Amino acid sequence: MQNISLSELHKQIRMHLECLKVSGIEWLENNSTSLTSAPLIPEQLPLASMAVAQNVVVTSPAPVMPALHSLEKKMLLLQQLKDEVASCVKCSQLAQTRKNTVFGTGKIEPDICFVGEAPGITEDEKGIPFVGEDGLLLDKILKACGLSRDEVYFLNIISCKPPDKRLPLLTEISNCRGFLEKQLALVKPKVICCLGSCAAENLLDTKIPTNKLRGKFYDWKGIQVLCTYHPLYLIRNPEKKKEVWEDMKFLISHLGRSLPTP
Ligand code: URA
Repeated sequence: MQNISLSELHKQIRMHLECLKVSGIEWLENNSTSLTSAPLIPEQLPLASMAVAQNVVVTSPAPVMPALHSLEKKMLLLQQLKDEVASCVKCSQLAQTRKNTVFGTGKIEPDICFVGEAPGITEDEKGIPFVGEDGLLLDKILKACGLSRDEVYFLNIISCKPPDKRLPLLTEISNCRGFLEKQLALVKPKVICCLGSCAAENLLDTKIPTNKLRGKFYDWKGIQVLCTYHPLYLIRNPEKKKEVWEDMKFLISHLGRSLPTP
């Protein structure tokens, strides 16, 4: 059996339980087994066997199990990637000035993954993307589209806040590229929505400005990409909100979803 530290074991069990929750398992039988004496979950065991080993009542039907298993694997791989990002020091200036790395967050395999530029002050403090002023505006846009934060995924071109509100440097973008690509491959959204020129330029490798990229889908490694303005740009240029709303309606209808009735 694989050698595993207690903290790693705790982490894996926590993630396993999270995954069960996401999968519709509503309760666990309360027994006296403490976490430290809980049986080790062998990674290759099918979920049903894990459930038996953990005294879990499974309320989801059996046929969905293979999908759940891969979802659980993805959660583990994303956690490993998040840990790697947290200890990354490739960009020495960012590693010295950041308070937290800001990894992506949200639903795995969502309809939409929003890609921004870089964490700001609030994101750096909380370690969560889009939780500052522009994040609040993004929440409002999501709500108008009938979506909540936990139905979509958010990430940034780079995972650390650049100092003095400067743009990410090309070396920083290139250092973070592997993390971005691995994350997108695991999260596997139906559509990537690039927020602003930094996301669009770097993901699509183009110099075309956002106003010219809008209104059309592009391809990034088999995933459709739509470009719109960054919420911070909207705060500074509120007259552009109309155009973002057009882009969102286009995206929502492309996904076969409908907007909430007013
Ligand atoms: N702006 C971004 O591009 N990303 C964030 O996470 C916050 C602000």
